[in-house]
Amino acid sequence: MTETKDRSAAGALFWEQQLERFLGRSNSKACSQLGQSLSAIAPSSLQHGDLSRWTDALTALPDLSPSAISLDDSRLIIGRADDLASNSSPLALRAQLEAFIPWRKGPFELFGIDIDTEWRCDLKWQRLEHAITPLAGRRVLDVGSGNGYYAYRMAGAGAAQVLGIDPHIPYVAQFLLLQKYLAEQPVDVLPVTLDDFPTRCEAFDTVFSMGVLYHRRSPIDHLHQLRDALRGGGELVLETLIVDGVKGYSLIPEGSYARMRGIWFVPSVATLEAWLMKAGFDDIRVVNTSVTTVEEQRATPWMPFDSLQDSLDPDDSCLTLEGHPAPTRVVIIATKR
Ligand SMILES: C[S@@+](CC[C@H](N)C(=O)[O-])C[C@H]1O[C@@H](n2cnc3c(N)ncnc32)[C@H](O)[C@@H]1O
Repeated sequence: MTETKDRSAAGALFWEQQLERFLGRSNSKACSQLGQSLSAIAPSSLQHGDLSRWTDALTALPDLSPSAISLDDSRLIIGRADDLASNSSPLALRAQLEAFIPWRKGPFELFGIDIDTEWRCDLKWQRLEHAITPLAGRRVLDVGSGNGYYAYRMAGAGAAQVLGIDPHIPYVAQFLLLQKYLAEQPVDVLPVTLDDFPTRCEAFDTVFSMGVLYHRRSPIDHLHQLRDALRGGGELVLETLIVDGVKGYSLIPEGSYARMRGIWFVPSVATLEAWLMKAGFDDIRVVNTSVTTVEEQRATPWMPFDSLQDSLDPDDSCLTLEGHPAPTRVVIIATKR
């Protein structure tokens, strides 16, 4: 009983601190209202997992001042090896970063240590960065932000404020690690989902939803929620799995898809466009489709578990182990009507 109470007190403190940071940098009425509305909830994500494991690992990190920061390179660079000086050794810091394995999204270079993550997220970013409305000065929401790799790329592209949301606490913990050394950047990641947002918050100029739609049981509701988070005329950047097929067709995998559970709908591009129109978007443009390669998603020392290679049919890499078409992704941009 006392342990449960302690855990919920630690969760409440963790939440309060993050929300306070977000509110502190929210200088628009809509973002402040969003923060106020979130302050009334207790995120369910905080009830799961071992929060103290992460808070302890975060507290143990050395205080360091990065002498160089680069957020517009493929690999996000935070600090140089020389910055470690007397405070920590490369070996000690490496061990501290390894405590946050698996590192799925990246890559990063932290104080001279290369974190070669499972995903080369820079490749996805390259596919869309020149197609979207420039982010300079915009307020941006990144739904399913993971550890914030893309959120920092958005800040690197000049966004005025970026809010990432992701309910998976280990990824939020990785974000807090990065944020410790990037405190001046206008980026937050909160452990919530769009279900926690007030209806029609309309606080953002650009909303990203990448790699989330197929996890939603009700994809059209997800598109409506994304629309509600945008101001009138705002831009949606949607990235998701697709299959070949006519308008109206969607793969509904019976079991897993590429060994991932919780995959509900993998539509054709024409179906996705129809969903977007129905959800209140115009000016719908496909800017990229690409088959995910084992160069883009693979096991590394920083994510030493099974990856894409292990999810494909060993005799035919065009198929998943379950016999579905291998992962192919689309990036679509659309404007709120
Ligand atoms: C496949 S990953 C994609 C991460 C990143 N956006 C990307 O494109 O590489 C999906 C992410 O969405 C998060 N997620 C799952 N359901 C979510 C929801 N309802 N709202 C926000 N994030 C969600 C997961 O925790 C995970 O970090």
